[in-house]
Amino acid sequence: MQTTNEIDLAVLFEKTFGTHPRIFRAPGRVNLIGEHTDYNDGFVMPAAVGFSTYVAIAARPDRKLHIHSEEFPGNFEFDLDHLPEKRIGAWCDYVLGVASILRQQGHKLGGANLLVHGKVPIGAGLSSSAALEVSSALALLSLTGTSLPLPEVAQLCRQAENTFVGARVGIMDQFVSCMGKAGHAFFLDCRSLEFKLVPIPAGLELVVCNTMVKHDLATGAYNTRREECEEGVRAFARWDPSVRALRDVSVDLLDRHEKDIPFTIWKRCSHVVHENQRTLDAARALTEGNMARVEQLMRESHNSLRDLYEVSCRELDIMVEAAEGLPGFCGGRMTGGGFGGCTVNLVREENAEDFAKRIAERYREATGIHPQVYLCSAEDGAQALN
Ligand code: GLA
Repeated sequence: MQTTNEIDLAVLFEKTFGTHPRIFRAPGRVNLIGEHTDYNDGFVMPAAVGFSTYVAIAARPDRKLHIHSEEFPGNFEFDLDHLPEKRIGAWCDYVLGVASILRQQGHKLGGANLLVHGKVPIGAGLSSSAALEVSSALALLSLTGTSLPLPEVAQLCRQAENTFVGARVGIMDQFVSCMGKAGHAFFLDCRSLEFKLVPIPAGLELVVCNTMVKHDLATGAYNTRREECEEGVRAFARWDPSVRALRDVSVDLLDRHEKDIPFTIWKRCSHVVHENQRTLDAARALTEGNMARVEQLMRESHNSLRDLYEVSCRELDIMVEAAEGLPGFCGGRMTGGGFGGCTVNLVREENAEDFAKRIAERYREATGIHPQVYLCSAEDGAQALN
């Protein structure tokens, strides 16, 4: 069934390009727990949410790629046989990156018109980039007549972001955007890519609170954290050669060497090692409906991101504190890479609207900033809409 959204997008596409498109959708995500663990071969537990990016596409007779959007600036035109080798610094980089990786993998892309409609808030840490990559990948693949299993789509999108866009992200965002399931959190082992769907207990909503800030150091600090983790791996591998990633470091090994490595590196490693265990524990607690335990684990995760991994910020801390004690609150923390963006809260359905109002008031009083608060549920991953 078509929603108003798709009909509007199809109409706009026909007006712009004169042909009828196919339309693909991929969602953004929130991460319930397991932060900065994906690129350490660890565990994550995100959920796809109701904000999606839509890509309408139809073939062109030439070898050109035209990329348009109503809400993002610039109309772009590229020659498929001479695609840029790396990012050009515009939003279309995510589409170009995917096209370029598809070509490298031997997919025969033909000319195409693309119209992008993005509904995932930008810069809020809700993975608008993964949503654009995944929807573009499905759209471009549809014209080649081949289909790829969704886990492979996720991996090629991550590769596009790593090598073309130049952001060294892990696999979490693309994977859950492809594979998310309505009503479920998505527990993923980022080493084996095995996953388990964990039902979100009935009567709970995801309340996502946007601090409306994004501090400039986000990208630089992300890459620095990755390097610090790599330094940690090199150190621990000297003491235990079976260590290939921080995933392999036990609490015992971590604690034995607290004084042997720079304290900053040890703090980063300590966050990752314990966050992996918290994620395993949270998956179990959520399955059992033990919300008191989930709340405790989410709070510990936030504190660790604040004190050990040092990727929180004043606004995120205020938003997390503001949730404490509100009726219906069952756990919350910062979500995503950090330095701004959103917190995620599990809130009882009957309290969700009141919670949204009251947390917004508390945050506004403390910071002078008007936040956006989204009442979300876990939704299905990417799909073709027609
Ligand atoms: C960003 C990245 C993810 C992950 C998170 C932190 O969202 O895209 O791969 O590393 O940060 O958990």
